[in-house]
Amino acid sequence: MKGKKVIVGVSGGIAAYKAAELVRLFVRADVHTRVAMTSNATRFVGPLTFEALSGNRVIWDMFHQEGTALDHITWGQETDLIIIAPATANLIAKLAHGIGDDFLSTMVLAATARILVCPSMNSQMFMNPSVQDNLRLLRERAMTVMEPGEGSLACHTEGPGRLPEPEEIIEVARALMTHQDLSGLKILVTAGPTVEPMDPVRYITNRSTGKMGYALVRAGCQRGASVVLVSGPTSLKPPSGVAFCGVKTAAEMRKAVLENCSECDMIIMAAAVSDYRPRQSAQQKIKKGGDSLSLEMVKTPDILAELGSARKESPCILIGFAAETEDLLSNAKEKLSAKGLDMIVANDVSRNDAGFETDTNKVKMIYKDGQVEDSPLMSKDEVAHLILDRVKALLEGGAS
Ligand code: CTP
Repeated sequence: MKGKKVIVGVSGGIAAYKAAELVRLFVRADVHTRVAMTSNATRFVGPLTFEALSGNRVIWDMFHQEGTALDHITWGQETDLIIIAPATANLIAKLAHGIGDDFLSTMVLAATARILVCPSMNSQMFMNPSVQDNLRLLRERAMTVMEPGEGSLACHTEGPGRLPEPEEIIEVARALMTHQDLSGLKILVTAGPTVEPMDPVRYITNRSTGKMGYALVRAGCQRGASVVLVSGPTSLKPPSGVAFCGVKTAAEMRKAVLENCSECDMIIMAAAVSDYRPRQSAQQKIKKGGDSLSLEMVKTPDILAELGSARKESPCILIGFAAETEDLLSNAKEKLSAKGLDMIVANDVSRNDAGFETDTNKVKMIYKDGQVEDSPLMSKDEVAHLILDRVKALLEGGAS
């Protein structure tokens, strides 16, 4: 999103205070951010707050402010995206019926930019047929309308009507401003660790946090792909719009992958799958006894190798990850050929700034013709986009 331009349009609802955080997040992502408010919105949050956060002049009054002569035309034509957050029932009705009676509604009427509408209101009001009809009209006119969240509302009721969290709005905005070059493609991504139980209170697992896999899922969604995420337990929230399958063990992950892999254009196995599991998970908690305890472990299924050996039947691109602490290149090359992959992404997990538990990564992408490409140290989101660029090129070149 860096370098993009957005306008946040704030209308007069209690959730206007959340728009301040939204503006802060855009600015932090180096997005040029301007704010237009309705005059009712200024009763909830002062324009000065948005001016301070965005570093730009805020417009809320069409006729009494400096420099507004043509701003209602130019603002919406010189920006990449307009985000109306919160969008009240009143503003939604005005947008649906072509009313321009203040700066924000007039600016939207003249806009050429994409428009994202984030409704927020009392749930009864939201479910009112006239509001629903107006939202349908906005969707028919190619505006993107986010579903409000559910929960307890400021008016002491429960139901749909909460403004989506600023982070969720940012994700949708990011997707709307990203080139949809993966649209029409289906991607399956595995992420996170698997956990193999010993007894009802203990398990064997690994240090994977799922951050790299979830970054791949976000990148795929932003670029228009339909994404299935098969994830072991993590503390991360799946991006909205993804088909999510939560699993625990390697056996469950295998089942979920096999159930979802048909018609996939790409499968990216970023999960750190346990290679062994306790032969048996005790029915009851294992009690402390002698000075040592032996645990018999048996191999789990190698999901990627199974997909690799079945691949003649499928044109799908198969990507693995290799987590290594030594001999990175030779170990990864061996896995690439043993598992029948198109590309393997090798991670040196002994580094502090790459691999497990970090927000950055530095990888080697190794292709089956022996070519190796080194990435610089980047955020996991950037690495994810780079990997998808390369997988897309492989897909376009045709996998053999
Ligand atoms: N993988 C898998 N099923 C397993 C083990 C691994 O599908 N039971 C996948 C991982 O998701 C990853 C790739 O195989 O994409 C390589 O995983 P890694 O743990 O690096 O290698 P292993 O094959 O498990 O070998 P080793 O642990 O000996 O390095």
